[in-house]
Amino acid sequence: MTTVQNGPGSAKQELLRARLEGMIAGLVPGEPLPAERDLARDLGVARMTLRRAVDGLVEEKRLIRRRGSGTFVAGAKVSQRLAATSFSADMRARGLRPGSHTVESRRFPAGMMLAALLDVPPQTDVLFVRRLRLADDVPMALEDLHVPATVAPGLTGEDLESASFYDLLARRFDDPVVAGTQTVEPALAGADEAALLGVPEGSPVFLFERTSRVRSGGVAEFVRSTYRGDRYRIVVDIFPPD
Ligand code: GLP
Repeated sequence: MTTVQNGPGSAKQELLRARLEGMIAGLVPGEPLPAERDLARDLGVARMTLRRAVDGLVEEKRLIRRRGSGTFVAGAKVSQRLAATSFSADMRARGLRPGSHTVESRRFPAGMMLAALLDVPPQTDVLFVRRLRLADDVPMALEDLHVPATVAPGLTGEDLESASFYDLLARRFDDPVVAGTQTVEPALAGADEAALLGVPEGSPVFLFERTSRVRSGGVAEFVRSTYRGDRYRIVVDIFPPD
């Protein structure tokens, strides 16, 4: 048995955390951690030291503590189909309450690169909004959204606070999203993203890029989204070859 010593922020504390993380990774969501007394003994730490490390993981919502019954591995992964649905609709379909918090927003002319992606002239006004997406108040994804003013004139970052972009397009602009192209690749959360998502820096994430078109034909958005790898799994429907 390896003995892990005390000391907040110390290498020993980090080792303890790494061992707990390893243990969590090996459990299924909803499964309980062993009883505190047994776990502290197995890890060779004082119960207080263990409790502090577990507190950190509870705060990050990776573990859930239920009074009187123990500590459990947090939420199951969301199975995400690669479809032109909105975050809000996806969460509602799972019985979760969608949320959106605007972290930053500004406007600027598209420039060459964005103009090509958004299929607009380079001088077109573009709204950039960085949004934290939440499910039952838990951060799930960070989205960097670019919307050309041609598709949603007058739209602001505040309009998107706690609101669905796709609902606004359909209701306020009477121009729903009808199709899109999306790519997905693995990445590691950078310091800023990790802080906003409430995960350790370097955690695995899915990087989605989506361009979608509205019914009237224009490109509604170019979005780069960072989805938590510990909360998502990608589902792909397969069809017979043509
Ligand atoms: C998903 C997509 C984004 C899209 C968003 C709209 O997260 N990856 O490209 O902008 O849904 O979601 P909502 O309508 O909830 O704002």
